[in-house]
Amino acid sequence: MNIHDLLVKRRSIRKYTDRKLSPEAVKMILEAALLCPTSKSARAWQLVVVEDPDTLTRLADCKPAGAISVGRCPFAVVVTVDSTKSEAWIEDASVAAFAMQLQAADLGIGSCWVQVRGRNTADGATSDEHVRGVLGIPDNCPVLCIVTFGYPDEERKPQDTEKLKWENIHIDRW
Ligand SMILES: Cc1cc2nc3c(=O)[nH]c(=O)nc-3n(C[C@H](O)[C@H](O)[C@H](O)COP(=O)(O)O)c2cc1C
Repeated sequence: MNIHDLLVKRRSIRKYTDRKLSPEAVKMILEAALLCPTSKSARAWQLVVVEDPDTLTRLADCKPAGAISVGRCPFAVVVTVDSTKSEAWIEDASVAAFAMQLQAADLGIGSCWVQVRGRNTADGATSDEHVRGVLGIPDNCPVLCIVTFGYPDEERKPQDTEKLKWENIHIDRW
């Protein structure tokens, strides 16, 4: 599919069937992240691939709302960057996370970005501490988000290009 059609069609998918992703699909999704541009070409991403259902259930407790897809998905990627190697770690991680989502959409695989940075658990710890604790991620690798993946078990309409926020575009000056 061409990139524009893919951008129109991609929607966040939070309900997945039990169907596993093939190793080839997993490889393509991870490759999408590793192909991404990074500030000063740091390429300091550290991605944790999670398929174990118990671990996914524990990760879903990283915040009280908005993490439901983590406990329901067959496959997730926890997106971190070594922040000692990239001061633009948030941007580096964001570009990689979205590239994985686009690649997944092209394969007919749904995905959802679950925000971790700046969020808290139900008992007041940071979501970042929770995720790092569950997975043993070192302190120098803050977690931006968890991207959940799976074959869609819900229908989402493509975006309506008639409703795009063109009023947010400024030409030549504000
Ligand atoms: C930075 C960012 C954080 C997000 N955090 C969450 C989240 O924690 N949980 C969730 O279910 N969706 C999350 N989303 C998905 C958005 O809710 C979703 O992209 C938005 O509602 C637009 O819907 P669409 O992706 O279907 O077009 C996040 C998306 C972005 C880009």
